[in-house]
Amino acid sequence: MSMDKLNAELTAFIDGLYEGEKKVLVFGEGEANAPVMLVGEAPGEQESLLGRPFVGKAGKNLDEFLEGAGMERSALYVTNTVKFRPTKVSAAGRTVNRPPTQEEVKLFVPWLEREIALVDPKCVVTLGNVPLKALTDRRQVIGSLHGQFMDLNGRLLFPMYHPASVIYNPSLKEVYRRDLLVFAQWYKKIRSFAHKT
Ligand code: URA
Repeated sequence: MSMDKLNAELTAFIDGLYEGEKKVLVFGEGEANAPVMLVGEAPGEQESLLGRPFVGKAGKNLDEFLEGAGMERSALYVTNTVKFRPTKVSAAGRTVNRPPTQEEVKLFVPWLEREIALVDPKCVVTLGNVPLKALTDRRQVIGSLHGQFMDLNGRLLFPMYHPASVIYNPSLKEVYRRDLLVFAQWYKKIRSFAHKT
């Protein structure tokens, strides 16, 4: 199974489910067998317009932090839990983002699991509560698990705060940076190991 085939299957599944309402899907992108897979929540407006994950404000934040930790996004695989932009109409009549519903998350979990199996990363980094809860026990919360390696069915899971949460809560910036340093140390080790073998 190739990623293109999986994405085509997912498109057909969503089209069938949301008949008459064309959902724009934003698929994951990056190295086919990247050692690290970042999993976000859902695309926002920019992502939906450009058809790429993490290219809006949260993406800029993510890139900044990655650079700061000496990691390049091009070496990673980046995706979202929910592949379309969840929206609502605001009181002012504008279409705005909303968090994905439980039902939406549930719909995408089996597809995300297949995507993880295909990329086969050594470590899955969840960004925020949505992917963490989607891939583990729903009672797990980012506040107590961020910045530590855990087991995810035989591979590593490293929960981090969502880069957008730092925009809304600047006091998290230091926590985020520390977590990323822990992760970057592990990443450097596996990279130098890969170069030696
Ligand atoms: N937030 C996410 O979780 N994913 C994106 O792609 C953009 C913003």
